[in-house]
Amino acid sequence: MRIAVPTETEGRETRVAATPETVKKLTALGATLVIQSGAGTTSGITDADYEAAGATIAKDAKATLADADVVLKVRRPGAKETGLLKSGALVIGIMDPYGNEEALKALAAAGVSAFAMELMPRITRAQVMDVLSSQANLAGYRAVIDAAAEFGRGLPMMMTAAGTVPAARMFIMGAGVAGLQAIATARRLGGVVTATDVRPAAKEQVESLGAKFIAVEDEEFKQAETSGGYAKEMSKEYQAKQAALVAAHIAKQDIVVTTALIPGRPAPKLISEEMVLSMKPGSVIVDLSVERGGNVALAKPGEVVTTPNGVKIVGHLNVPGRLAATSSALYAKNLFAFLETMIDKSTKALAVKWDDELVKATNLTRDGAVVHPNFQPKVAEPAA
Ligand code: NAI
Repeated sequence: MRIAVPTETEGRETRVAATPETVKKLTALGATLVIQSGAGTTSGITDADYEAAGATIAKDAKATLADADVVLKVRRPGAKETGLLKSGALVIGIMDPYGNEEALKALAAAGVSAFAMELMPRITRAQVMDVLSSQANLAGYRAVIDAAAEFGRGLPMMMTAAGTVPAARMFIMGAGVAGLQAIATARRLGGVVTATDVRPAAKEQVESLGAKFIAVEDEEFKQAETSGGYAKEMSKEYQAKQAALVAAHIAKQDIVVTTALIPGRPAPKLISEEMVLSMKPGSVIVDLSVERGGNVALAKPGEVVTTPNGVKIVGHLNVPGRLAATSSALYAKNLFAFLETMIDKSTKALAVKWDDELVKATNLTRDGAVVHPNFQPKVAEPAA
Protein backbone atom coordinates (compact mmCIF):
# COMPACT_ATOMS: atom_id res chain seq x y z
CA MET A 1 0.00 0.00 0.00
CA ARG A 2 1.75 3.09 -1.30
CA ILE A 3 0.51 6.47 0.00
CA ALA A 4 1.63 9.66 -1.78
CA VAL A 5 1.62 13.24 -0.56
CA PRO A 6 2.41 15.72 -3.35
CA THR A 7 3.18 19.41 -2.86
CA GLU A 8 -0.02 21.46 -3.10
CA THR A 9 -0.14 23.42 -6.35
CA GLU A 10 -3.62 25.01 -6.41
CA GLY A 11 -4.53 28.42 -5.01
CA ARG A 12 -1.20 29.14 -3.29
CA GLU A 13 -2.04 26.53 -0.65
CA THR A 14 0.32 26.53 2.32
CA ARG A 15 -1.02 23.45 4.14
CA VAL A 16 0.11 19.86 3.65
CA ALA A 17 -1.93 16.65 3.96
CA ALA A 18 0.46 14.62 6.14
CA THR A 19 2.73 15.35 9.10
CA PRO A 20 5.55 13.26 10.58
CA GLU A 21 3.02 12.11 13.20
CA THR A 22 0.53 10.75 10.62
CA VAL A 23 3.38 9.31 8.51
CA LYS A 24 4.43 7.24 11.54
CA LYS A 25 0.87 6.09 12.20
CA LEU A 26 0.27 5.10 8.56
CA THR A 27 3.62 3.31 8.37
CA ALA A 28 2.60 1.32 11.46
CA LEU A 29 -0.54 0.25 9.56
CA GLY A 30 1.63 -1.22 6.80
CA ALA A 31 1.82 1.67 4.34
CA THR A 32 4.83 3.00 2.42
CA LEU A 33 4.78 6.81 2.45
CA VAL A 34 6.17 8.90 -0.41
CA ILE A 35 6.33 12.68 0.13
CA GLN A 36 7.24 15.18 -2.56
CA SER A 37 10.37 17.15 -1.68
CA GLY A 38 9.36 20.48 -0.13
CA ALA A 39 5.70 19.53 0.42
CA GLY A 40 5.90 20.47 4.11
CA THR A 41 8.07 23.58 3.86
CA THR A 42 5.27 26.15 4.23
CA SER A 43 3.96 24.20 7.24
CA GLY A 44 7.39 24.18 8.89
CA ILE A 45 8.09 20.50 8.12
CA THR A 46 11.34 19.58 6.36
CA ASP A 47 12.06 16.59 4.12
CA ALA A 48 14.38 15.34 6.89
CA ASP A 49 11.46 15.42 9.39
CA TYR A 50 9.40 13.20 7.08
CA GLU A 51 12.34 10.88 6.46
CA ALA A 52 12.94 10.54 10.20
CA ALA A 53 9.27 9.49 10.52
CA GLY A 54 9.80 6.73 7.95
CA ALA A 55 8.78 8.33 4.63
CA THR A 56 10.67 8.37 1.33
CA ILE A 57 11.17 11.72 -0.42
CA ALA A 58 10.48 11.94 -4.16
CA LYS A 59 11.89 14.74 -6.29
CA ASP A 60 8.76 15.81 -8.19
CA ALA A 61 5.00 15.23 -8.52
CA LYS A 62 5.44 12.53 -11.16
CA ALA A 63 7.83 10.47 -9.03
CA THR A 64 5.65 11.02 -5.94
CA LEU A 65 2.40 9.93 -7.57
CA ALA A 66 3.80 7.04 -9.63
CA ASP A 67 2.02 3.84 -8.64
CA ALA A 68 0.36 5.44 -5.58
CA ASP A 69 -2.65 3.54 -4.21
CA VAL A 70 -3.73 6.45 -2.02
CA VAL A 71 -3.09 10.17 -2.59
CA LEU A 72 -3.55 12.54 0.36
CA LYS A 73 -4.30 16.14 -0.61
CA VAL A 74 -5.40 19.43 0.86
CA ARG A 75 -7.07 20.64 -2.37
CA ARG A 76 -8.60 18.85 -5.34
CA PRO A 77 -5.90 17.84 -7.85
CA GLY A 78 -5.51 20.21 -10.80
CA ALA A 79 -5.61 19.01 -14.42
CA LYS A 80 -1.87 18.27 -14.60
CA GLU A 81 -1.84 16.35 -11.34
CA THR A 82 -4.97 14.39 -12.31
CA GLY A 83 -3.05 13.18 -15.37
CA LEU A 84 -0.43 11.63 -13.07
CA LEU A 85 -2.84 9.60 -10.91
CA LYS A 86 -2.97 5.82 -11.17
CA SER A 87 -6.33 4.40 -12.25
CA GLY A 88 -8.01 2.90 -9.19
CA ALA A 89 -6.18 5.13 -6.69
CA LEU A 90 -8.03 6.68 -3.74
CA VAL A 91 -7.67 10.47 -3.67
CA ILE A 92 -8.73 12.15 -0.43
CA GLY A 93 -8.92 15.91 0.16
CA ILE A 94 -11.09 19.04 0.31
CA MET A 95 -12.61 18.68 -3.15
CA ASP A 96 -14.79 21.81 -3.35
CA PRO A 97 -17.18 19.85 -5.60
CA TYR A 98 -20.10 22.29 -5.93
CA GLY A 99 -19.92 24.17 -9.22
CA ASN A 100 -16.87 22.17 -10.27
CA GLU A 101 -18.63 19.36 -12.09
CA GLU A 102 -16.11 19.38 -14.98
CA ALA A 103 -13.22 18.72 -12.58
CA LEU A 104 -15.21 15.82 -11.05
CA LYS A 105 -15.70 14.36 -14.53
CA ALA A 106 -11.95 14.58 -15.12
CA LEU A 107 -11.27 12.70 -11.87
CA ALA A 108 -13.82 10.06 -12.89
CA ALA A 109 -12.21 9.77 -16.33
CA ALA A 110 -8.82 9.24 -14.64
CA GLY A 111 -10.40 6.19 -12.98
CA VAL A 112 -9.70 7.36 -9.42
CA SER A 113 -11.98 7.17 -6.39
CA ALA A 114 -12.11 10.74 -5.10
CA PHE A 115 -13.36 11.56 -1.58
CA ALA A 116 -14.49 15.01 -0.43
CA MET A 117 -13.66 15.43 3.27
CA GLU A 118 -16.01 18.40 3.59
CA LEU A 119 -18.99 16.12 2.90
CA MET A 120 -18.24 14.05 6.01
CA PRO A 121 -21.44 13.62 8.05
CA ARG A 122 -21.38 15.53 11.35
CA ILE A 123 -22.04 12.46 13.49
CA THR A 124 -20.20 11.48 16.66
CA ARG A 125 -18.11 8.75 15.00
CA ALA A 126 -16.85 11.18 12.37
CA GLN A 127 -16.02 14.14 14.64
CA VAL A 128 -12.32 13.25 14.48
CA MET A 129 -12.57 13.45 10.65
CA ASP A 130 -14.45 16.77 10.55
CA VAL A 131 -12.23 19.07 8.48
CA LEU A 132 -14.82 21.84 8.43
CA SER A 133 -14.62 22.07 12.22
CA SER A 134 -10.86 21.63 12.56
CA GLN A 135 -10.15 24.33 10.00
CA ALA A 136 -13.00 26.73 10.93
CA ASN A 137 -11.87 26.69 14.56
CA LEU A 138 -8.40 27.88 13.51
CA ALA A 139 -9.84 30.41 11.06
CA GLY A 140 -11.90 31.91 13.91
CA TYR A 141 -8.79 32.23 16.04
CA ARG A 142 -6.73 33.73 13.23
CA ALA A 143 -9.45 36.22 12.27
CA VAL A 144 -9.12 37.85 15.70
CA ILE A 145 -5.31 37.84 15.50
CA ASP A 146 -5.52 39.46 12.04
CA ALA A 147 -7.97 42.04 13.39
CA ALA A 148 -5.65 42.82 16.32
CA ALA A 149 -2.72 43.25 13.93
CA GLU A 150 -4.65 45.76 11.77
CA PHE A 151 -6.04 47.66 14.78
CA GLY A 152 -3.98 50.68 15.74
CA ARG A 153 -4.87 50.41 19.44
CA GLY A 154 -4.49 47.94 22.28
CA LEU A 155 -7.19 45.38 23.02
CA PRO A 156 -7.17 44.91 26.81
CA MET A 157 -7.86 47.63 29.32
CA MET A 158 -4.52 48.91 30.62
CA MET A 159 -4.11 51.21 33.58
CA THR A 160 -0.72 52.84 33.35
CA ALA A 161 1.00 55.82 34.90
CA ALA A 162 0.59 57.62 31.59
CA GLY A 163 -3.13 56.99 31.45
CA THR A 164 -5.82 54.36 31.05
CA VAL A 165 -6.30 52.50 27.77
CA PRO A 166 -9.91 51.32 27.34
CA ALA A 167 -10.69 47.72 26.33
CA ALA A 168 -11.62 47.27 22.68
CA ARG A 169 -15.26 46.52 21.86
CA MET A 170 -15.40 43.41 19.70
CA PHE A 171 -18.51 42.02 17.98
CA ILE A 172 -18.61 38.49 16.50
CA MET A 173 -21.38 37.78 13.98
CA GLY A 174 -22.20 34.10 13.54
CA ALA A 175 -21.43 31.86 16.53
CA GLY A 176 -20.76 28.48 14.91
CA VAL A 177 -17.38 26.76 15.11
CA ALA A 178 -15.35 29.72 13.80
CA GLY A 179 -17.37 32.33 15.68
CA LEU A 180 -17.13 30.57 19.05
CA GLN A 181 -13.35 30.34 18.74
CA ALA A 182 -13.25 34.00 17.70
CA ILE A 183 -15.22 34.88 20.84
CA ALA A 184 -12.89 32.82 23.05
CA THR A 185 -9.82 34.43 21.46
CA ALA A 186 -11.23 37.96 21.71
CA ARG A 187 -11.98 37.36 25.40
CA ARG A 188 -8.45 36.04 26.05
CA LEU A 189 -7.03 39.20 24.46
CA GLY A 190 -9.08 41.31 26.86
CA GLY A 191 -11.80 42.67 24.56
CA VAL A 192 -15.35 43.50 25.65
CA VAL A 193 -17.09 40.91 23.49
CA THR A 194 -20.64 40.70 22.10
CA ALA A 195 -21.90 38.16 19.57
CA THR A 196 -24.95 37.35 17.49
CA ASP A 197 -26.45 34.38 15.66
CA VAL A 198 -29.85 33.35 14.34
CA ARG A 199 -29.81 29.92 16.04
CA PRO A 200 -31.20 29.97 19.59
CA ALA A 201 -28.72 27.25 20.66
CA ALA A 202 -25.91 29.74 20.09
CA LYS A 203 -27.10 32.01 22.93
CA GLU A 204 -26.03 29.71 25.76
CA GLN A 205 -22.73 28.88 24.03
CA VAL A 206 -21.91 32.58 23.58
CA GLU A 207 -22.76 33.34 27.20
CA SER A 208 -20.75 30.38 28.49
CA LEU A 209 -17.68 31.99 26.86
CA GLY A 210 -18.32 35.20 28.78
CA ALA A 211 -19.67 37.26 25.88
CA LYS A 212 -23.00 39.08 25.68
CA PHE A 213 -25.55 37.68 23.20
CA ILE A 214 -27.36 40.18 21.00
CA ALA A 215 -30.14 39.04 18.65
CA VAL A 216 -33.74 39.56 17.57
CA GLU A 217 -35.26 36.76 19.66
CA ASP A 218 -38.71 36.49 18.05
CA GLU A 219 -40.82 33.44 17.01
CA GLU A 220 -38.82 32.97 13.78
CA PHE A 221 -35.54 32.93 15.75
CA LYS A 222 -36.92 30.08 17.90
CA GLN A 223 -37.34 27.97 14.70
CA ALA A 224 -34.13 29.03 12.92
CA GLU A 225 -32.07 25.89 13.52
CA THR A 226 -32.45 22.94 11.11
CA SER A 227 -32.43 19.36 12.41
CA GLY A 228 -28.83 19.21 11.15
CA GLY A 229 -27.85 22.07 13.51
CA TYR A 230 -27.40 24.68 10.78
CA ALA A 231 -29.01 28.06 10.18
CA LYS A 232 -31.93 28.61 7.80
CA GLU A 233 -32.11 31.57 5.45
CA MET A 234 -34.17 34.12 7.40
CA SER A 235 -37.24 35.98 6.07
CA LYS A 236 -36.96 39.52 4.68
CA GLU A 237 -38.83 40.78 7.79
CA TYR A 238 -36.38 39.12 10.15
CA GLN A 239 -33.41 40.41 8.16
CA ALA A 240 -34.77 43.96 8.43
CA LYS A 241 -35.21 43.68 12.23
CA GLN A 242 -31.74 42.13 12.53
CA ALA A 243 -30.22 44.93 10.43
CA ALA A 244 -31.80 47.61 12.62
CA LEU A 245 -30.42 46.01 15.78
CA VAL A 246 -26.98 45.47 14.26
CA ALA A 247 -26.80 49.01 12.83
CA ALA A 248 -27.14 50.61 16.25
CA HIS A 249 -24.63 48.21 17.81
CA ILE A 250 -21.97 48.27 15.10
CA ALA A 251 -21.44 52.04 15.18
CA LYS A 252 -19.98 51.60 18.70
CA GLN A 253 -17.62 48.69 17.88
CA ASP A 254 -13.85 48.75 17.38
CA ILE A 255 -13.54 45.30 15.81
CA VAL A 256 -16.15 43.15 14.04
CA VAL A 257 -15.54 39.58 12.87
CA THR A 258 -18.20 38.02 10.62
CA THR A 259 -18.45 34.23 10.15
CA ALA A 260 -22.09 33.70 9.08
CA LEU A 261 -22.88 30.98 6.54
CA ILE A 262 -25.96 29.09 5.39
CA PRO A 263 -25.29 25.67 3.82
CA GLY A 264 -25.88 25.64 0.05
CA ARG A 265 -26.66 29.40 -0.09
CA PRO A 266 -24.54 32.50 -0.57
CA ALA A 267 -23.34 34.00 2.74
CA PRO A 268 -26.00 36.30 4.28
CA LYS A 269 -25.31 40.04 3.88
CA LEU A 270 -25.10 41.32 7.45
CA ILE A 271 -23.15 44.60 7.25
CA SER A 272 -24.31 47.20 4.72
CA GLU A 273 -22.18 49.99 3.30
CA GLU A 274 -24.07 52.43 5.50
CA MET A 275 -23.14 50.43 8.59
CA VAL A 276 -19.46 50.37 7.56
CA LEU A 277 -19.55 54.12 7.09
CA SER A 278 -21.10 54.57 10.57
CA MET A 279 -18.00 53.08 12.24
CA LYS A 280 -15.16 55.10 13.77
CA PRO A 281 -11.88 55.65 11.85
CA GLY A 282 -9.41 52.92 12.77
CA SER A 283 -12.11 50.27 13.31
CA VAL A 284 -11.46 46.87 11.74
CA ILE A 285 -13.86 44.37 10.16
CA VAL A 286 -12.71 40.85 9.28
CA ASP A 287 -15.03 39.02 6.85
CA LEU A 288 -14.31 35.30 7.19
CA SER A 289 -17.14 34.48 4.74
CA VAL A 290 -15.58 36.51 1.91
CA GLU A 291 -14.84 33.35 -0.12
CA ARG A 292 -18.53 32.39 -0.02
CA GLY A 293 -19.91 35.75 -1.17
CA GLY A 294 -19.14 37.74 1.98
CA ASN A 295 -21.12 39.10 4.95
CA VAL A 296 -19.81 42.64 4.52
CA ALA A 297 -20.45 45.25 1.83
CA LEU A 298 -17.18 46.67 0.40
CA ALA A 299 -15.17 43.56 1.41
CA LYS A 300 -12.89 42.31 -1.38
CA PRO A 301 -11.62 38.71 -1.53
CA GLY A 302 -7.89 38.58 -0.88
CA GLU A 303 -7.58 42.26 0.02
CA VAL A 304 -7.46 44.62 3.00
CA VAL A 305 -9.65 47.57 1.95
CA THR A 306 -9.51 50.94 3.73
CA THR A 307 -12.78 52.84 3.32
CA PRO A 308 -12.97 56.65 2.93
CA ASN A 309 -13.94 56.93 6.64
CA GLY A 310 -10.83 54.99 7.68
CA VAL A 311 -12.35 51.57 8.42
CA LYS A 312 -10.22 48.57 7.42
CA ILE A 313 -12.07 45.58 5.95
CA VAL A 314 -9.95 42.43 5.95
CA GLY A 315 -10.84 39.81 3.31
CA HIS A 316 -8.02 37.28 3.50
CA LEU A 317 -8.51 34.06 1.52
CA ASN A 318 -7.67 30.63 2.94
CA VAL A 319 -7.43 31.87 6.52
CA PRO A 320 -6.51 28.41 7.92
CA GLY A 321 -3.53 28.54 5.53
CA ARG A 322 -2.31 31.63 7.45
CA LEU A 323 -1.37 29.35 10.33
CA ALA A 324 -0.39 26.43 8.15
CA ALA A 325 1.64 24.46 10.69
CA THR A 326 -1.30 24.15 13.09
CA SER A 327 -3.93 23.71 10.36
CA SER A 328 -1.86 20.99 8.67
CA ALA A 329 -1.38 19.15 11.97
CA LEU A 330 -5.14 18.95 12.60
CA TYR A 331 -6.08 18.37 8.95
CA ALA A 332 -3.58 15.52 8.61
CA LYS A 333 -5.09 13.92 11.73
CA ASN A 334 -8.59 14.22 10.17
CA LEU A 335 -7.33 12.45 7.03
CA PHE A 336 -5.56 9.76 9.03
CA ALA A 337 -8.71 9.00 11.03
CA PHE A 338 -10.72 8.50 7.82
CA LEU A 339 -8.06 6.52 5.96
CA GLU A 340 -7.58 4.25 8.98
CA THR A 341 -11.17 3.02 8.51
CA MET A 342 -10.20 1.90 4.97
CA ILE A 343 -7.24 -0.25 6.04
CA ASP A 344 -7.55 -3.87 7.20
CA LYS A 345 -5.36 -4.10 10.30
CA SER A 346 -4.72 -7.85 9.99
CA THR A 347 -3.77 -7.98 6.30
CA LYS A 348 -2.30 -4.43 6.35
CA ALA A 349 -3.95 -3.82 2.98
CA LEU A 350 -6.55 -1.37 1.69
CA ALA A 351 -10.09 -2.63 2.28
CA VAL A 352 -12.60 0.14 1.55
CA LYS A 353 -16.06 -0.57 2.98
CA TRP A 354 -18.04 0.92 0.13
CA ASP A 355 -21.35 0.65 2.00
CA ASP A 356 -20.07 2.49 5.11
CA GLU A 357 -22.08 5.70 5.57
CA LEU A 358 -18.90 7.81 5.83
CA VAL A 359 -17.57 6.39 2.56
CA LYS A 360 -20.91 6.79 0.78
CA ALA A 361 -21.31 10.39 1.97
CA THR A 362 -17.86 11.49 0.77
CA ASN A 363 -17.16 9.33 -2.33
CA LEU A 364 -17.48 11.48 -5.47
CA THR A 365 -16.10 9.24 -8.24
CA ARG A 366 -15.49 5.52 -8.72
CA ASP A 367 -14.90 3.10 -11.63
CA GLY A 368 -14.87 5.89 -14.22
CA ALA A 369 -18.09 7.59 -13.12
CA VAL A 370 -19.26 10.42 -10.85
CA VAL A 371 -21.16 8.37 -8.26
CA HIS A 372 -22.22 10.91 -5.62
CA PRO A 373 -25.99 11.56 -5.75
CA ASN A 374 -25.51 15.34 -5.39
CA PHE A 375 -23.52 15.57 -8.62
CA GLN A 376 -25.58 13.55 -11.09
CA PRO A 377 -26.41 15.26 -14.40
CA LYS A 378 -29.93 16.67 -14.40
CA VAL A 379 -32.28 14.46 -16.45
CA ALA A 380 -33.86 16.60 -19.17
CA GLU A 381 -37.66 16.96 -18.96
CA PRO A 382 -39.30 14.94 -21.75
CA ALA A 383 -40.63 17.22 -24.51
CA ALA A 384 -44.39 17.85 -24.25
P1 NAI B 1 -21.68 27.47 9.43
O1 NAI B 1 -20.24 27.61 9.08
O2 NAI B 1 -22.63 26.92 8.44
O3 NAI B 1 -22.25 28.92 9.86
C1 NAI B 1 -21.60 29.74 10.80
C2 NAI B 1 -22.62 30.39 11.72
O4 NAI B 1 -23.32 31.43 11.03
C3 NAI B 1 -23.68 29.44 12.27
O5 NAI B 1 -23.65 29.45 13.67
C4 NAI B 1 -24.99 30.04 11.72
O6 NAI B 1 -26.08 29.85 12.60
C5 NAI B 1 -24.61 31.51 11.59
N1 NAI B 1 -25.52 32.30 10.75
C6 NAI B 1 -26.14 31.97 9.59
N2 NAI B 1 -26.92 32.99 9.15
C7 NAI B 1 -26.78 34.00 10.05
C8 NAI B 1 -27.32 35.33 10.15
N3 NAI B 1 -28.18 35.80 9.22
N4 NAI B 1 -26.97 36.08 11.20
C9 NAI B 1 -26.11 35.61 12.14
N5 NAI B 1 -25.56 34.38 12.10
C10 NAI B 1 -25.90 33.58 11.07
O7 NAI B 1 -21.85 26.65 10.79
P2 NAI B 1 -20.81 25.75 11.57
O8 NAI B 1 -19.82 26.61 12.23
O9 NAI B 1 -20.31 24.69 10.68
O10 NAI B 1 -21.70 25.11 12.73
C11 NAI B 1 -23.10 24.91 12.63
C12 NAI B 1 -23.59 24.07 13.81
O11 NAI B 1 -23.10 22.75 13.72
C13 NAI B 1 -23.17 24.56 15.18
O12 NAI B 1 -24.28 24.39 16.03
C14 NAI B 1 -22.10 23.62 15.59
O13 NAI B 1 -21.97 23.53 16.99
C15 NAI B 1 -22.60 22.34 14.99
N6 NAI B 1 -21.54 21.36 14.77
C16 NAI B 1 -21.77 20.04 15.09
C17 NAI B 1 -20.80 19.10 14.92
C18 NAI B 1 -21.06 17.68 15.28
O14 NAI B 1 -22.08 17.36 15.82
N7 NAI B 1 -20.17 16.77 14.99
C19 NAI B 1 -19.49 19.45 14.39
C20 NAI B 1 -19.36 20.84 14.05
C21 NAI B 1 -20.37 21.74 14.24
